[in-house]
Amino acid sequence: MTNDVFIFDHPLLQHKLTMIRKKETGSKEFRELVEEVSSLMAYEMTKSMPLEKVEIETPVCKTSSYVLSGKKMAIIPLMRAGLGMVNGILNMIPVAKVGHVGLYRDPETLQPVEYYAKFPGDIDKREIFIVDPMLATGGTAIAAIDALKKRKAKHIKFICLIASPEGIAAVHNAHPDVKIFTGAVDPGLNEKSYITPGFGDAGDRLYGTK
Ligand code: URA
Repeated sequence: MTNDVFIFDHPLLQHKLTMIRKKETGSKEFRELVEEVSSLMAYEMTKSMPLEKVEIETPVCKTSSYVLSGKKMAIIPLMRAGLGMVNGILNMIPVAKVGHVGLYRDPETLQPVEYYAKFPGDIDKREIFIVDPMLATGGTAIAAIDALKKRKAKHIKFICLIASPEGIAAVHNAHPDVKIFTGAVDPGLNEKSYITPGFGDAGDRLYGTK
């Protein structure tokens, strides 16, 4: 595995990931767990963010204290399952802007086609977190990164709950500058390109569809 994959090993996060994987977990609990795991991931990812000292006044006296400095952030969920991760990250980073990208697979060419994209105007200056619960074949992730780079985005990270080795290799091959953050790397994909063992179809499990 390359250095450019970070696996979140926090015990709380790993415990919640197990609950997410279980087939008995219903949509309500699944949504809550995905949100909680996303908050924990945002917390972990921001632990090395730069700080700057500012002068403030408490009700008691003047003092200096710290605030976040560095680049502003943007969360870009890949529709539709990525939407399940947005609120969890916003709970930790409420000032982040949210952009959206929608891609479908052309049934003939099997290539991802962009059907919707709306990004913050200053996307080129922001630190970008693309979010999708699953990094499976990597096709959608690569197309989303392409869509962002076309708009001059530079500082891109990909965050998922579970990744496959195939997806990681594909993203790194196409975009070696994009670091991947994941809760687990599962052994591989089945014949339907589902991550195995994984947790099934993330969109269906979030929204109760089939
Ligand atoms: N998308 C999903 O929702 N699940 C997988 O296992 C793979 C892709």
